Amino acid sequence: MMYLKSVVLIFLLVCTVNFQEANSKKSAKTEDSPSPAASAEAPASAEGANSTGAKKGGAAGTFNIEDFGVVGDGKTDNAPGFLKAWKAACDATGKPTIVIGKGDYLLGPVVFEGPCKGDHITIQLDGTLLGSTNLGSYKSNWLQFQHINGLTITGTGTVDGQGAKTWPENKCKSGGACKVFPMSMVFAFIKGLTVHGITSLNSKYFHFNVFSSENIELSSLTVTAPEDSPNTDGIHLGDNTNVTITDTTISTGDDCISVGPGTSKVLISKVKCGPGHGISIGSLGRYANEKDVTDITVKSCTLTRTTNGLRIKTYQSNPTPLEVSKIHYEDITMDHVTYPIIIDQQYCPNGKCGGSGESTVKIVDVTYKGIKGTSADPNTVVLKCSAKNPCEQIDVSGINIEAPTGSSNITCVNTKLGTADASIKSACSEN
Ligand SMILES: *[C@@H]1O[C@H](CO)[C@@H](O)[C@H](O)[C@H]1NC(C)=O
Ligand SMILES: *[C@@H]1O[C@H](CO)[C@@H](O)[C@H](O)[C@H]1NC(C)=O
Ligand SMILES: *[C@@H]1O[C@H](CO)[C@@H](O)[C@H](O)[C@H]1NC(C)=O
Repeated sequence: MMYLKSVVLIFLLVCTVNFQEANSKKSAKTEDSPSPAASAEAPASAEGANSTGAKKGGAAGTFNIEDFGVVGDGKTDNAPGFLKAWKAACDATGKPTIVIGKGDYLLGPVVFEGPCKGDHITIQLDGTLLGSTNLGSYKSNWLQFQHINGLTITGTGTVDGQGAKTWPENKCKSGGACKVFPMSMVFAFIKGLTVHGITSLNSKYFHFNVFSSENIELSSLTVTAPEDSPNTDGIHLGDNTNVTITDTTISTGDDCISVGPGTSKVLISKVKCGPGHGISIGSLGRYANEKDVTDITVKSCTLTRTTNGLRIKTYQSNPTPLEVSKIHYEDITMDHVTYPIIIDQQYCPNGKCGGSGESTVKIVDVTYKGIKGTSADPNTVVLKCSAKNPCEQIDVSGINIEAPTGSSNITCVNTKLGTADASIKSACSEN
């Protein structure tokens, strides 16, 4: 599964390049003919809206999806209309808004490509977007936003991947040849992203994937898919800096949040996770040239009936050394979590990881402070670090996790503690 994430990312990057090429050709073509948007002050008359739409156009800089031939009947494929609305807004100056009102809008894959002319685009989403279930129509993801400076998606609307119809086609768990499924919302090469208030329902694969982006705020989101849905990670981050995720509820079939390589300055707070696989850093160290992960804070979160709580995992052998540092977990409530605190540097999901079996990922300066509640398994604290690269400066204090049998099993391997509770100190001194 985790191996797949990286494959998906590479696939994404490859596709992105193709999209870029395709789009640079396209924009070269449109520049030949004068764009009405370039001269017209009234953005409602921008390319894409017909004259009826222009008359219906609201405040300057507002683009209502209804004016672009879109039909909210849950049956018509609205991808072309959404693309026209995007084009109109993207060609407008100032701070245009695309309005998606109430209605069920079926649509296949759309790439919302920048750079745009204005300073910032807002998408007011109050309707429901329904992802086409025709897998053959997807090249990669469903709704992909890329190369944009300043993007806000806000509202009470829902992004419904309709994954239940395609999950049975996902053969990734059974280890066979495994086709890549579309992620619901992908943000790539964005500077300044806000996603607020919306619901992501039943994605076919990940709900959100944010990569190669900076200055990101995800807040008041609801992310929902069944516990047994395959690879439906809530939010995946990779190669980003300055990310806030707050006031968000995630119930899903894989990691609630996963932090991939190259990520720094992340604050995750007031997140409710469960069911799901917890809040993970990693998997790390699977591929060459992965970048360090640093400065990640997870604070005031609740995990309920998840298979892991706070997890850091690295492959047991790695092509390139990298470092994980300044990780801070504080004020976390566990409710029947299977492995509440776990560092696993011997991660090898398929048993074929090769190498020396000793991770060259260095984990240094990790603080667990005030972690309380209950676990579903006696192994409340598992710190399994690498013999080649022992974990250093691991502070584990104020841990009060009640194991089901009343006695918890604390594992400590190749771990150099800093400040720690007596029970943790004694477990670590035995190794
Ligand atoms: C033009 O806009 C009107 C009003 O929104 C819409 O009903 C109609 O389908 C549009 N026509 C075309 C060709 O897009
Ligand atoms: C981090 O991102 C936020 C927006 O989410 C922005 O307001 C802030 O200025 C950014 N911080 C830095 C240091 O760039
Ligand atoms: C306790 O932890 C050790 C070391 O990881 C493990 O070998 C053992 O199986 C664990 N005991 C239980 C009851 O899970």
